[in-house]
Amino acid sequence: MKKFLIIVLSLMMLLPLAASADKLDDIKSSGKLLVGASADFPPFEFWYTDPATGEETLQGIDMALAKGLAENLGVEFVLVDQAFSGLITELRAGSIDIILSGMNIKPDRMEVVDFSVPYFSGTQVMVVKKDELDMYKAVETMAGKTIGVQLGTLQQEIAETQFTDSEMLALDKIPLLVLELEMGNIDGLLLDNTVAFSYASVHPKIAVSEMPIAWEFDGMGAAINKGEDNATFLKAVNEYIEMIMADGTLDAWTQEAYEINGVLLQQADE
Ligand code: ARG
Repeated sequence: MKKFLIIVLSLMMLLPLAASADKLDDIKSSGKLLVGASADFPPFEFWYTDPATGEETLQGIDMALAKGLAENLGVEFVLVDQAFSGLITELRAGSIDIILSGMNIKPDRMEVVDFSVPYFSGTQVMVVKKDELDMYKAVETMAGKTIGVQLGTLQQEIAETQFTDSEMLALDKIPLLVLELEMGNIDGLLLDNTVAFSYASVHPKIAVSEMPIAWEFDGMGAAINKGEDNATFLKAVNEYIEMIMADGTLDAWTQEAYEINGVLLQQADE
């Protein structure tokens, strides 16, 4: 009997909590939207230094989306800039509310987080040193060579599964990988196509190779936590993304991000 009472009492204590737990309400009452991203990823999230004023600002498609979403929810946008490989762990731990970091929607990730509707799609490319472009035109030409990837990314998975005769260097930040490539410590760098063109446009020693790369998971989405209490938040995120996709806002932000980074839209579309 005592045991029964304790169980009933503890269930009663849990109930009101469960009933009121709504992520969207929590975000609104905190007044902040904590957005996780690794801001090394132009045109999605990057720090841009204005050559005229020297002022550093946060730019990119994801960041415009994050700011717009926060505004739409009536809260302040806060960026939590951190390593890409730790984003899902941070989301699940509750230290961020949402991931907007050029993250591809993939089955292994879908097991642990929910994704919004996709808002961007692209291809995968190998970046090499410009003076070695002729050497690397097929996957086989990378045999015995070293490929750089950002830790925890789709690119790491591609390197591990498709470049089995190559060595791999996985690092947390893309600028370091670019440096390794420029110094000749690695021979190729796997990146999302738009990101690759962005880096190549400001690093004259590197270029995007013609190597065809097969990949399975297209479509980038915002990631949020799973569960009933996140349902209204996910719905709000999806409605917002659908709206900015339908009215041309997302296209305008994309164009702006390309221009800021000096990348031509045609190049990224190739
Ligand atoms: N699109 C790739 C992925 O989903 C790489 C994303 C890296 N993002 C970043 N902000 N560095 O795995």
